[in-house]
Amino acid sequence: MFVDPALYRPLVIEPQRFREVMSSFPSGVVVLTAFGQDGLPRGLTVSAFCAVSLEPPLALACIDKTSNTLPAVQHTGGFTANILAVGREQLARRMATKVSDKFDTITWRRPVGGGGPVLEADAAAYAVCTLKETIEAGDHWILIGLVVDGGHHDGFAPMVYSRHVYDPL
Ligand SMILES: Cc1cc2nc3c(=O)[nH]c(=O)nc-3n(C[C@H](O)[C@H](O)[C@H](O)COP(=O)(O)O)c2cc1C
Repeated sequence: MFVDPALYRPLVIEPQRFREVMSSFPSGVVVLTAFGQDGLPRGLTVSAFCAVSLEPPLALACIDKTSNTLPAVQHTGGFTANILAVGREQLARRMATKVSDKFDTITWRRPVGGGGPVLEADAAAYAVCTLKETIEAGDHWILIGLVVDGGHHDGFAPMVYSRHVYDPL
């Protein structure tokens, strides 16, 4: 039987093309942190982070279901979104690995009232969140956080990430 290839389209975009499309949308780079059941810091690099609502102040992050940081967020019911400052590519790359000593060489402090470690020396801004809702979406969880505290560092410009390049000119 003859099948016209033009009519034979996949039902969804191919993964590689999807990645190319989405990486063309510039984002900031966040290190999302939380404390594990053992009290130790956990964290990962995230580009899927944005504001959701002003009243109440809500923000969301999308986290892969296989993330080792996820149980810490679920256990403590909170996280901190550290919006990286320009020039922190090495930190972003390290936090995007699965090594167990990610926090050994970085400076962090415990925030007041929940959330995860604040990376003051490396963040242009940070948002301390309590977990309000988790929504299952494909192979990720959407974490919706109520922003209970935060701050920004006037002297630090935020890092930008686009098409796999950190801080493109
Ligand atoms: C620039 C960049 C952006 C990323 N964005 C996300 C993201 O939005 N969500 C996510 O789950 N993983 C994202 N990742 C991948 C995680 O950082 C990576 O899988 C990490 O190893 C997970 O660590 P964990 O298992 O210790 O939590 C990103 C990686 C990079 C380099």
